[in-house]
Amino acid sequence: MSQLELRDIRKTYPGALDETLKGINIDIASGEFLTLVGPSGCGKSTLMNSIAGLESITGGSIVVEGKDISTMEPKDRDIAMVFQSYALYPTMSVRENIAFGLKIRGMPKDEIQQEVERVADLLQISALLDKKPARLSGGQQQRVAMGRALARRPKIYLFDEPLSNLDAKLRVEMRTEIKKLHQRLKTTIVYVTHDQIEAMTLADRIAVLKDGELQQLGTPKEVYDTPENLFVAGFMGSPSMSFINVTVEQAGSAWWSTLRAAMAGNLPCQCRIT
Ligand SMILES: Nc1ncnc2c1ncn2[C@@H]1O[C@H](COP(=O)(O)OP(=O)(O)OP(=O)(O)O)[C@@H](O)[C@H]1O
Ligand SMILES: [Mg+2]
Repeated sequence: MSQLELRDIRKTYPGALDETLKGINIDIASGEFLTLVGPSGCGKSTLMNSIAGLESITGGSIVVEGKDISTMEPKDRDIAMVFQSYALYPTMSVRENIAFGLKIRGMPKDEIQQEVERVADLLQISALLDKKPARLSGGQQQRVAMGRALARRPKIYLFDEPLSNLDAKLRVEMRTEIKKLHQRLKTTIVYVTHDQIEAMTLADRIAVLKDGELQQLGTPKEVYDTPENLFVAGFMGSPSMSFINVTVEQAGSAWWSTLRAAMAGNLPCQCRIT
């Protein structure tokens, strides 16, 4: 059974002329790691916020384990999200930030302490537990935000560019940690990233978005080797794929593509299309 079904998700922000999400359909299997990629402004965060319930959708439905949660309050959805901006509670220490979600769910004090120490160790922030967020660097704040999500054991994790403020070394380490964590917990994850290596190495499948529309949904290999359109072909891969214009012509029963060089006098180069 699909754990998370996004059915024809549409979103128009109040006062906006265009739809930001134009009918997104994705089925995410239980335990699957789906990465969401696409250019800035294509609607990735809007889709994540909609799944978490922080934005209301204007069409379609979000279904978790067969149950429509589209109108459910965020706190009742059993989904943990790490935001692009860290959204930490400024008056609480790191320890209290991580413990907060566990406390309101009624976990016993000693278990909370164990859990906070476990994630702090995992994220290498044990020395920061008694500091307030304002005293931390951006990368440290981001790790606390991850810790807060990891301390819970929700049905689904949503990560919106969780590693974007970390230095290169820590980023690679954290990527490995996230992969290991996923293998261990087998929790369903939807993960937004601008980093293609991250997208290709972490994902079971990749969803490519452009202008609020799904361009392709497939394994990293499928998306990389057999892009469904020119956008995906140009977007995935670094350096990106080059394109050349050819003319396709039929001669008898055969099809030929003809490449005409821009320089005058060059003979056209022809290939038979099989
Ligand atoms: N609260 C809002 N009110 C109105 N428009 C919004 C709001 N939030 C986002 N938008 C618009 O919706 C579109 C998609 O934004 P979104 O933040 O989802 O993009 P994104 O793919 O996450 O981009 P990035 O990669 O830069 O984070 C943008 O055109 C943005 O201006
Ligand atoms: Mg975003």
